[in-house]
Amino acid sequence: MDSSQEKKMKAVILYDSRTKSGSTEAIIDAMGQKLAERGVYVEKAKCKALADYSFVCDFDLVILGAPVYYFLVSSQLLGALNYGNLKEHLQKKKVALFLTCGSSESMASVLYLPQLKIHLIRNKILVEKIFPPNVLSESFVLDSFVLDVLHEYNKATKSRALSAKWTDESKEWLQTIPSFLQSKFRTMAEEYAENMGYKEITLEMLELARDEMGGT
Ligand SMILES: Cc1cc2nc3c(=O)[nH]c(=O)nc-3n(C[C@H](O)[C@H](O)[C@H](O)COP(=O)(O)O)c2cc1C
Repeated sequence: MDSSQEKKMKAVILYDSRTKSGSTEAIIDAMGQKLAERGVYVEKAKCKALADYSFVCDFDLVILGAPVYYFLVSSQLLGALNYGNLKEHLQKKKVALFLTCGSSESMASVLYLPQLKIHLIRNKILVEKIFPPNVLSESFVLDSFVLDVLHEYNKATKSRALSAKWTDESKEWLQTIPSFLQSKFRTMAEEYAENMGYKEITLEMLELARDEMGGT
């Protein structure tokens, strides 16, 4: 396996659907294809409440999706979160959520999404979306979901260690400010360097950043 394959992002779509080859499954297949076209390794797994979800740890991103039936998010996905070990294996995972349902987006956001989100308070939820059952006829909606997920994932995982390096001088300067402020300053400087394309965080760059951010 070459290094580009090793770095491929791995996503799993965990879903539920009551109907065989129903709308949720069709949406997932289209979503999986769009993710794969953008270089993501994708698998899908239909939820069973009491299945073993330890395989989730092999994935960088978990997309959870289900239809709504009689005001409830479909039962196997909720069951896996409530009674199975899914929640345990989702810890610290980046997740994206979607529901397929007949209700309006605003209603579904209030009534249905919280049924999933209550189990995910410790997760970084990258994107959440309500799809109408006929979303495949408006494929840009699915495209924008996939793009949003990838954008948010990249934003959340961008390693600052891989971006600008601190020079010895600037590291020493960082030590001179109160320790409770150091982490905030470090993040601000690294974000500035990243946005402005600096490969090194020098004292000069820190001065520029301070001037531009209106610091003293
Ligand atoms: C019996 C039945 C009950 C439904 N109940 C709801 C509901 O309470 N709220 C809602 O927004 N949509 C409801 N829907 C719409 C489904 O969520 C929607 O059609 C969904 O895309 C079905 O997904 P599936 O084909 O993958 O099972 C219901 C659909 C059916 C057939």
